[in-house]
Amino acid sequence: MKNILFAASECVPFIKTGGLADVIGSLPKAFDKTRYDVRVIIPKYLCIPESFRSEMKYVTHFYMDFCWKSQYVGILELEREGVHYYFLDSEYYFGGAWPYSNMLEDIEKFSFFSRAVLSALPLIGFRPDVIHCHDWQTGLIPVYLNDSFQGDAFFRGIKTVFTIHNLKFQGTWDVETMKNITGLSDYYFTSDKLEAYRNGNMLKGGLVYSDRITTVSQTYAQEIRTPFYGEGMDGLLRAREGQLSGIVNGIDYSFYDPSHDKDIAAAYDAETVFEKKPVNKAALQRELGLTEDPDAFLIGVVSRLTDQKGFDLIQCVLHEICEDDVQLAVLGTGEWRYEQMFRDLAAEKPGRVSANIFYSEALSHRIYAGCDAFLMPSLFEPCGLSQLMSLRYGTLPIVRETGGLRDTVEPYNRFTGIGTGFSFTNYNAHDMLHVIRMAKEVYRDDRKAWDKLVRQAMKQDFSWKNSAVQYEQLYADLLD
Ligand code: ADP
Ligand code: GLC
Repeated sequence: MKNILFAASECVPFIKTGGLADVIGSLPKAFDKTRYDVRVIIPKYLCIPESFRSEMKYVTHFYMDFCWKSQYVGILELEREGVHYYFLDSEYYFGGAWPYSNMLEDIEKFSFFSRAVLSALPLIGFRPDVIHCHDWQTGLIPVYLNDSFQGDAFFRGIKTVFTIHNLKFQGTWDVETMKNITGLSDYYFTSDKLEAYRNGNMLKGGLVYSDRITTVSQTYAQEIRTPFYGEGMDGLLRAREGQLSGIVNGIDYSFYDPSHDKDIAAAYDAETVFEKKPVNKAALQRELGLTEDPDAFLIGVVSRLTDQKGFDLIQCVLHEICEDDVQLAVLGTGEWRYEQMFRDLAAEKPGRVSANIFYSEALSHRIYAGCDAFLMPSLFEPCGLSQLMSLRYGTLPIVRETGGLRDTVEPYNRFTGIGTGFSFTNYNAHDMLHVIRMAKEVYRDDRKAWDKLVRQAMKQDFSWKNSAVQYEQLYADLLD
């Protein structure tokens, strides 16, 4: 039996701000339990719903010297659907209304978390063979492991994997402040280690000190070795390409399951989709105040409203997208200018555009189920889960061919009828508009071809089955 510990800043169902939480909440369930004991450790944020916090059992606590103070660290645990979760408690660091605050606070918070994860290990009766770290918030785990923990026999031989979910976020601040916070010596703040462009960089710590690096699709694993996508780390990633691989994300097929989804108006599967999707579409139109028109081409967007997701392209051709026979259902929060853009559009086109500027898991399911198409024209996309959810619900994704979108959506080929969605290559608003119009034409004028795409989309298997095996292989190679 191999012991694996996932360390991350968020995990479904406890706390979620994006796809990272979906991955941490679903991948551990997919491993072969006879060979891998995969557990998860996250902060015990005060903003985790009380229903979960009250289920957690106290294990023990200790005091850790950190940032010139002696800090309380509580350890709690909980078992759910066969997975063991640990939570590190510190009201001082994790007491906020949201997991993240400003960058400087977050750097201190997650440096603390990274150190506390290692310090807690000897107390929990679980010695991982591999610590699998996710994103910059856990980037210092491999660094600390290499540093002060090496003296202790318990830690010797523990391997580390670092998965990049998003290279854009790195946790950087000036070197002096970073040294003060992390307690790491001058030795670490050189350009071959944690220093990057004169700042300290936590993500870089993970990239330099982990035994293996992965990211969440094969295309993104290639892209990040280039300056355009590399966010300043492309040189380092090229240097480490022998240890870098891409494993595409899956989604939780029992949670995102149109045939057992209690949040949607009418459950369906690949057999009943053409009978039940119109019911879901009509219910969604009613719920969102859209005109109840079965023939309108209903496009969904569920997203963080940020530049990453291509909203400047949408902004550029907003009015051209929203032609007479198109309806738009948006669910998202993020940058104020994009929130306002959709609010204004909805006010301008009542009955045809619905702007839902909030977070709702249940409404997201109804959008995945009720729309005809799903728009995701990302500037970059390490993997993307929303398009996988759309495929699962028979809603055809319209995407830009980047990162995981390129690896998971097969563009419609009008000659062979093959495909699971629509895509364009260049980051160009008119290319996107052209593809949206093409999708609409197929929907309107060639329903047979459209229905075939829906069937093909629903036949795809983006459960974790295949990808979990690839992670198992990676651990096996590392531990050989
Ligand atoms: P990212 O992690 O970059 O935000 P992903 O596509 O990997 O993008 O994952 C996004 C996840 O967050 C999906 O599960 C999506 O349904 C969900 N999501 C995003 N915004 C909202 C929202 N406003 N309400 C509900 N779910 C949302
Ligand atoms: C990040 C990426 C997204 C990916 C998710 C989970 O948030 O932006 O593309 O799907 O992580 O890996």
